[in-house]
Amino acid sequence: MKKNNILDIQKLKNLNTPFATLTAYDFPSAKIINELNIPIVLVGDSASMVVYGYKDTTPIQMDEMLLITKAVARGIGAALLVGDMPFMSYQPSVEVAVQNAGRLIKEGLMDAVKLEGGTEYIDQVSAIITAGIPVMGHIGLKPQSVLIESGYKIQGKTSDSALKIYQDALALADAGVFALVLEGIPEELAQIITQKIKIPTIGIGAGKFCDGQIQVLHDIIGLLGENVPKHANAYINSQKIIQDGISQYQSDVENNTFPNSNHSTKMDAQELTELKNKIENL
Ligand code: KIV
Repeated sequence: MKKNNILDIQKLKNLNTPFATLTAYDFPSAKIINELNIPIVLVGDSASMVVYGYKDTTPIQMDEMLLITKAVARGIGAALLVGDMPFMSYQPSVEVAVQNAGRLIKEGLMDAVKLEGGTEYIDQVSAIITAGIPVMGHIGLKPQSVLIESGYKIQGKTSDSALKIYQDALALADAGVFALVLEGIPEELAQIITQKIKIPTIGIGAGKFCDGQIQVLHDIIGLLGENVPKHANAYINSQKIIQDGISQYQSDVENNTFPNSNHSTKMDAQELTELKNKIENL
């Protein structure tokens, strides 16, 4: 199986065919996704909430990211693996950013990293790329800004804020990011950016004009229920499917129908008699 590189991803834009990407956080989901033709798999810092149960993406640590990136990498063959840089793993300085991006590649077995922000982190982005690590940008609604923004808000609704996002997109493309996530912005703005820059845009809550789309695995399969964000579709209710399976197991145990002889091993009759004799003679 040929591994996708960043040129393969960039070719997708030229083909003008929309492509689907998504997140993964563990070995079984990586194996499931690996059977499908998904070009990029992101080990997102959304793991903070959907895997570790924190309230938002600010608490997750580098070490918690590395545990799951390694697990996903063991299950993925062809897809380009992108590891998210968690909050405070790149903000403090260029050196900290390069070191942590390096850890995601060397220890976390990722092929690229993603970080949130535009011109304010352009030095970090450039230094990571100079170090030889591909970077995916992420602008618009930046979930790591939840504290300073007092919540999750669609960005770029006014001409001034839209212009800032447009300029961020151009600056990141100039700095050499290989693809750009556009999150939570009006579709017209996403369309303008997508038409302007040469690298693929990957939208989440940014409308249909992006080159590709990205979604959180748990949202599209309804793993935490069907109450998903406005930008997502729960295509199946896997929470219910899994609960149904567990309930059947539970009732089989309670009704004494599991395990049955198919699930069990019988001892050789003579060995059993000898065992009983030995126990009696103890
Ligand atoms: O962490 C994440 O899951 C993301 C998205 C773009 C899906 O950053």
